[in-house]
Amino acid sequence: MIIAIDGPAGAGKGTLSKLLADYLGYPYLDTGALYRATALSFIKNAADPEDPTVAKSTVESIIIDMIDGDDLRTSEVTLASSKIAAIPAVRAALLDYQRKFAHRPPGAILDGRDITTVVVPEANVKLFVTALLEVRALRRYQELLDRGEVSIYDKVLTEIKTRDEQDKTRTSAPMRKADDAIEIDTSYLKPLGVLRIALNIISRRQKENFKILSL
Ligand code: CDP
Repeated sequence: MIIAIDGPAGAGKGTLSKLLADYLGYPYLDTGALYRATALSFIKNAADPEDPTVAKSTVESIIIDMIDGDDLRTSEVTLASSKIAAIPAVRAALLDYQRKFAHRPPGAILDGRDITTVVVPEANVKLFVTALLEVRALRRYQELLDRGEVSIYDKVLTEIKTRDEQDKTRTSAPMRKADDAIEIDTSYLKPLGVLRIALNIISRRQKENFKILSL
């Protein structure tokens, strides 16, 4: 089973994906981390992301040597990731890896911005996780404080707004809710409440598949 999750920054996609991965025992791919790692590599090497050959070799190197951790979540890398994510050469270079990850048995959970629409539109379960802008900004602000970083709520709110706008309006794989994705608004829910809703959707989908198979 492939579970595809999209949604804007701070909506709770990552939290839900990790809980689902633990609960179902499926591998999880945070595709945002791929874009962040690619952005960091471009910043470090001052390379040209518009050049398809450079984009391909950068992506190959970050997939082999996946950088992780706080380096990827600085405000510089966050904004750069959204900028380079609009470049078709970068998206094309990352596509194959994501698709292969999704199709490896027994299944996978992927989250991002174009998972339900471009990466695996054939996913068995498609979710669009969202929340009010102010709630998302507050969560991000709290995350930064918890990591011991100096953070200003208004700045976080502006950054999220800028990124949402860039992600929604780009021509290459813009963030949007797929027609057949189920929306979960997490504004007033705790992580386990969101998990419960998602598990209900997944079990309904499994029952539907079972009915089709036994016809
Ligand atoms: O964690 P957060 O939701 O703030 O962001 P992320 O998922 O780590 O993604 C960082 C950036 O990568 C996003 O703002 C998008 O521009 C880009 N991205 C994308 O374009 N497509 C994806 N499938 C995943 C991320």
